[in-house]
Amino acid sequence: MHLQLADVRKSFGDNSVLRGVSFDVGPGEVVALVGENGAGKSTLTRVISGAHQPDSGRLLIDGTPTVLKDPQAAMAQGIEVIYQEFQQNLFPHLSVAENMYVLDRERVFGRLFVSKQRMAAEAARALRRLGMEIDVQRQVGELSVAERQMLEIAKAMTHELRLIILDEPTAALDEQESEQLFAQVNRLREAGVSVIYISHRLDEVFALSDRVVVLRDGRVTLDAPTGQLTPARVVTAMVGDAVDDFYPKERNARDEVVLEVRNGNGARFHDIDLQVRAGEVVGIGGVVGCGRSDLLRALFGLQPLTGSVRVGGSAVRVASVEDAIGSRIAYLSPDRQAEGLCMGQSVEANVSLASLRELSTGGGVVSRGKERAATGAVISDLRVRAASPSIAVSSLSGGNQQKALFAKWVMTRPRVLLMDEPTRGVDVGAKTEIYRIINQLTADGVAVLLVSSDLPELVAMSDRVVVMREGRFVAELTGDGLDEQSILKHALVGAA
Ligand SMILES: Nc1ncnc2c1ncn2[C@@H]1O[C@H](COP(=O)(O)OP(=O)(O)OP(=O)(O)O)[C@@H](O)[C@H]1O
Ligand SMILES: [Mg+2]
Repeated sequence: MHLQLADVRKSFGDNSVLRGVSFDVGPGEVVALVGENGAGKSTLTRVISGAHQPDSGRLLIDGTPTVLKDPQAAMAQGIEVIYQEFQQNLFPHLSVAENMYVLDRERVFGRLFVSKQRMAAEAARALRRLGMEIDVQRQVGELSVAERQMLEIAKAMTHELRLIILDEPTAALDEQESEQLFAQVNRLREAGVSVIYISHRLDEVFALSDRVVVLRDGRVTLDAPTGQLTPARVVTAMVGDAVDDFYPKERNARDEVVLEVRNGNGARFHDIDLQVRAGEVVGIGGVVGCGRSDLLRALFGLQPLTGSVRVGGSAVRVASVEDAIGSRIAYLSPDRQAEGLCMGQSVEANVSLASLRELSTGGGVVSRGKERAATGAVISDLRVRAASPSIAVSSLSGGNQQKALFAKWVMTRPRVLLMDEPTRGVDVGAKTEIYRIINQLTADGVAVLLVSSDLPELVAMSDRVVVMREGRFVAELTGDGLDEQSILKHALVGAA
């Protein structure tokens, strides 16, 4: 497909988000669309997918001005989107196979009533063709974030595709899964499908795209073939000036042990012995499914854990989230929709939610004044871009939602902070802001456990990294021994 955007504008109230966007995507071309959180990338995606109507400007498909009045109209043109908040498109109570065909059984099978076996067989075949290993009988609600995303992509690829927009598709994927995705994108390009690829990871942008379009405050500030660009030039177009100290790591570890786990066992991790000292950041490396996310969830009372846990030298129970919060353990979830944020609630309510006890004036009554002041301070420290603290969290851009989630846990003044993919979906400038806050927290003696599939981040921001494989710690890396290759080697094949 040859898609042309000509002077596209879109406002929400008096917030003008797209201020005259023009660019082209040719057949079989991969255009990377990059820009800071809130620049307007997802909004533009929704305009192209028919989910939003532009206020003005034109969309041309193969030279013909086209109005996409709704998502069905866009799908009829062969336009598919994998949304940033992809869970929206899936039904958690249905199986993988049912999800693949729930909306177009008739088109695929020629009739409405199809046996479960036939759907399962077809789904398994389609997934295998795409090189994806997912059990098609499983309920979608039980899949990991990464698996759900793979399913979304597979589902989109079963349709007649002419243009696909991937809005931060690798945010939830590990290295191997990302490689698989890149292979898919390359296959699509060869088949003449146009691709708009939105990502905050510049290494991917440079590896994958033919052209880069930078959006800044709703305007195109750079549009050039990837081969003529450097990462520095792209960052400058995004933020206006150069970012020098990208990983401002401070070493704040002290001797005192804050978190200690002995003989920790859970559904997907075994024999975990771990100590995290005050001010120390311990990274956990490993592939998706190795048990690292389960370990964090268990320490926050979201999954069963046997063994002993101590915080500040005292034995604690973490049988529930209330227990964990009571022991001043905080947890930053990778899945902000499912368990991080209440989308319908205001930014302010979300940020103060986990700290209601500290904010209450005795008798359990929450002081509105205190809530306002305390949340206001954290929101501005973290530079959460929200029109006002009282607007719904759902109307923030993806990266600003992530910052709001971070703010919520900073507010609880934790002793132990468990972070799973803390900078997922966060732009380059905001990432550095989050790293600085981690420094502040560790300077105050907070013990941090960090899970991240962004390996440069894991290496740069951790004092040491333990690598997990099949639920067990298999290596500990520090100093000169701590680098991306060593983490991968231990995570994938074991000590060679
Ligand atoms: N439905 C909506 N109602 C009101 N404001 C909205 C709505 N959707 C988006 N916005 C606002 O539009 C701006 C751009 O948001 P958008 O989601 O397009 O950013 P983005 O570039 O995708 O950012 P990110 O990298 O964080 O995902 C933000 O200020 C956001 O708050
Ligand atoms: Mg977005």
